Amino acid sequence: MTTDLEALHSVLHNVAPNAPSAGHNQWHAVCEDERLAPERGVAALVDGQQIAVFRTYGGDVYALSNRDPFSGAYVLSRGIIGTRGDIPTVASPMHKEVFDLRTGECLDNPVIGVQAFGARVREGRIEVLVPGTTPPRQVDATGRGSDVAVS
Ligand code: FES
Repeated sequence: MTTDLEALHSVLHNVAPNAPSAGHNQWHAVCEDERLAPERGVAALVDGQQIAVFRTYGGDVYALSNRDPFSGAYVLSRGIIGTRGDIPTVASPMHKEVFDLRTGECLDNPVIGVQAFGARVREGRIEVLVPGTTPPRQVDATGRGSDVAVS
């Protein structure tokens, strides 16, 4: 039987639902639910990764890497939240590329995307699901790093 977590694992890691996993994903509380207003984002540092957490007009929460892959700047949490058709989106404040909040896919350039994380509200807090095995991350003197795809 496939649990919700296994299904999420398979999506996050791009593997078959029953493939063996390298570790355990963990839900991390990132902020109080009431701190995140509709159509706003916040940046959180979780397990060494900058994650942008968003709330849509309808109240749903989503989480993406905070790094804009086009500019390399950690700014997506300050992007503009909207929709394209039925798709909840964020537009980067840098060059305005639009990303699907559900998957991280760039709708303007589907070859490039950002990592998407599970997000939920539990007991008054927003939680983000982060892979347990954090890949090594290179950070240079400017504080910029390169996101590493989940294996
Ligand atoms: S669910 Fe993916 S590592 Fe545990």
